[in-house]
Amino acid sequence: MKYEFPQDFWWGSAASGPQTEGAADVDGRKPSIWDHWYKEEPGRFFNNVGPVNTSNFYYQYKEDIQLMKETGHNSFRTSIQWSRLIPDGIGEVNPKAVAFYNNVIDEMLANGVEPFINLYHFDMPMSMQEIGGWENREVVSAYATFAKTCFELFGDRVRHWFTFNEPIVPVEMGYLYDAHFPNVVDFKRAVQVAYHTTVAHALAVKEYHALKQDGEIGIILNLTPSYPRSQNPADVRAAHIADLIFNRSFLDPVTKGEFPADLVEILKEHDVLPTYTEEDLAIIKNNIIDILGVNYYQPRRVKAKEYAAHPDAPFMPEHLFDNYEMPYRKMNPYRGWEIFEKAIYDIAINLRDNYGNIPFFISENGMGVEGEDRYRTAEGYIDDHYRIAFIKDHLKWLHKAMAEGVNCKGYHLWTFMDCWSWANAYKNRYGLVEVNLDQDYKRTIKSSGRWYKELSDNHGFEDAE
Ligand code: BG6
Repeated sequence: MKYEFPQDFWWGSAASGPQTEGAADVDGRKPSIWDHWYKEEPGRFFNNVGPVNTSNFYYQYKEDIQLMKETGHNSFRTSIQWSRLIPDGIGEVNPKAVAFYNNVIDEMLANGVEPFINLYHFDMPMSMQEIGGWENREVVSAYATFAKTCFELFGDRVRHWFTFNEPIVPVEMGYLYDAHFPNVVDFKRAVQVAYHTTVAHALAVKEYHALKQDGEIGIILNLTPSYPRSQNPADVRAAHIADLIFNRSFLDPVTKGEFPADLVEILKEHDVLPTYTEEDLAIIKNNIIDILGVNYYQPRRVKAKEYAAHPDAPFMPEHLFDNYEMPYRKMNPYRGWEIFEKAIYDIAINLRDNYGNIPFFISENGMGVEGEDRYRTAEGYIDDHYRIAFIKDHLKWLHKAMAEGVNCKGYHLWTFMDCWSWANAYKNRYGLVEVNLDQDYKRTIKSSGRWYKELSDNHGFEDAE
C-alpha cells in the first residue's frame, strides 16, 4: 500500500540552539541555566558531558545544511538562544549572534530548506533566572522584547515562528520533579511559572501579529495523551485530571484563549492558583496561535489512586492520579518510553473535533537509541533500520488521520543529527545523521537519512501492509 502525503507537506526535522550550536562561551554569549547548572553539578549529566560544545553547528552549519538537503529536508526547526542574542536577557543585542543567525537563515533559504524558528527551548538566560526566571513578571516582559527583536531582525525571511518548545517541561522538570535547574519542588511556584509562560507566549504572538509580517506564529506542545487503565469512572476521572494538568494547561489557552474551568477549580481547591492580573488574562484571551506544533513521543497511562498521599508530603500532580504501567507495552528500553503509534492519530482527531480542526504539524517524533555503534556497517555508516520502522509506523497513523480530515501540514523528526540531550547528554542518539564525538564531530548519514530523502522525494512510502 502507498502512504501518500500532500506535495507541499513539510518534511524535515527539529533541533534547538542549546543542543546543537556548541560555542557556548564564545562571541559574547553568556550562560543559560544549563551552563550554570553544569558548573554547579556536573555529575547530574550523563558521563559528565555538559552543554559547552554540543554538536558544533555554530562552526559547521554550512556542511550541516548540505546534509539537510541530502536527507530530504524542505524545512528545519532550530531555536535562537536568548542568551546568545541578548546575553544579559535585557538590553544590548549581540551583533555576532545577529550575524550567526542571519547566516544560518540565509544559507537554509539558499538551499531550499525553510527555516522554522523557535524562541525558547528550556534555555533561560542565567541573568534572568537570577531575578526569579518565569516566576518574575519582569522576565515575561523581557522575553516579549527578545521575541520582538527576533521578528524585527529576521522576520523578513523567517515565515514560521514558535514562541516556546514544550513549555510544560520546564514547569515539570524545574519546579516539580527536580530534573532541571532550578530544582524546585513546589506546585504553587510551578503553576506561577506555567501561567507566566502563557502570558509571555501570548505577548510574543501579539508582537508578531502587530508587525504584520508575512508569516505565521504558533507554539510547540508535547501532547502526551492520557489513557485511563479502564473505563471505570475513577480511572477515567484520573486520566482527565492528568490531561488537564499536562496537556490542556497550555493547549486550551493558546488555542481558545482560556484555561479549562475544571483545571482552575482543581488549582483553587488545592490553593495553588497563581498571582494574575485581568490585563494579562485579556492578553491571553486576545492572542491565539495561527498554527500548532505537536511533539509526540509516548503516551501517559493513568489509573485512579491506590493510596492516599501522606498528609505532610508536598502536594504533587500524582496526589490526584497514579501513573499506570500497562502490562506487555512496547518499549524503547534506552529512553524508557512506551512506543504507542496510535496516539498520533488520537491527538490529531482530538484537534479536529475539539479544537476547531486547527492547522498543525508533527513538530517532533523520534527514537533515542543507545550504543548505535553496534549497527555500523562495513561501509562505515549506521544501519538504523529500527528508526525507519518507527517513523513508518507513526506515519501510517498520521496518514489515516489525514484521510479522516485532520489539518496536518507536515512531519518533523527529532532530530537531524545526533545532539546533546540535556541531562542525558549524548547517551541516546536520535539523528538521521551520526555525529562522532571522538572524530571531531564527523557527520555520517545513517540508513534512516537516506531513507528520509526517498520519503520526501516520493511524498510518502510504500509498505506491505
Ligand atoms: C523533546 C525536546 O522533549 O524531546 C528535546 O523538545 C529533547 O529537546 C527530545 O531532546 C528528546 O528527549 P531526550 O530527553 O531524550 O533528550
